[in-house]
Amino acid sequence: MRVEILNPEVQGLASLSRAERQLPRHVAIIMDGNGRWARQRGHPRSFGHEAGVAAVRRAIRAALDIGVEALTLFAFSTENWRRPAGEVEFLWHLLQRHLQDDLPELHALGVRVMILGERQDLPQAVQRAIAAAEEVTAGNDRLFCAFAVNYGGRRDITRVARELAEEVRRGRLRPEDISEDLLEKRLATAPLPSLDLLIRTGGEMRVSNFLLWELAYAEFVSLPVLWPDFEAGHMSQAIQEYQKRHRRFGGVGP
Ligand code: FPP
Repeated sequence: MRVEILNPEVQGLASLSRAERQLPRHVAIIMDGNGRWARQRGHPRSFGHEAGVAAVRRAIRAALDIGVEALTLFAFSTENWRRPAGEVEFLWHLLQRHLQDDLPELHALGVRVMILGERQDLPQAVQRAIAAAEEVTAGNDRLFCAFAVNYGGRRDITRVARELAEEVRRGRLRPEDISEDLLEKRLATAPLPSLDLLIRTGGEMRVSNFLLWELAYAEFVSLPVLWPDFEAGHMSQAIQEYQKRHRRFGGVGP
């Protein structure tokens, strides 16, 4: 399916072939700045999160238009439970509503939705919305869109370590067979291509316990824009920055 490119901000990147564009296959975003954006306008933080949902839609659309294969969005970290209960509840409500209301459009656009993180701790209604979105879109292949929800990079690696230890205990695995490849295949992100580019909005330079293993050789671009102001042009800008980098994966390069 060919999606009409609606946004002139990504036209430059979208009009060339994948190889010519040296596109990242997998882009992840730390969507930061909702609270500051709301405060600047004299509104509660929830107002910023609500505006953040519109930016999520723009980011998905931009990824589709540009031809990125996978987009991972950090929606809620294992540390975000420390926020006031009302804010946490509001974030669940927004995620549920987004998954339900936008499901027909995401499906029509060929987006496959996936959730990374420990969903069993989420409210039942959110778990149902997640299951429905994953099931309905399971056969789509234009864009893999992963929402990291109750996700922590350390938590994910620890979970895999425990699973492998259990297999060793049961005699199904030998310690010497535990390799980087094996561990990587058990991470929540295993179905996605390797991470190429991490974008953080809000201007900070932290990784905040996001995709720790996956970030080993990814490029990092921090944008000064607050998440609710994120537009397709910011995605293009970050990808153009990525294209200027020389990825050497520990080698010396050309
Ligand atoms: C960080 O901004 C943002 C979050 C912790 C939540 C991200 C949520 C959304 C973008 C909206 C809902 C998401 C989906 C997928 C429907 P912050 O509150 O830490 O901002 P601040 O650093 O300015 O305080």
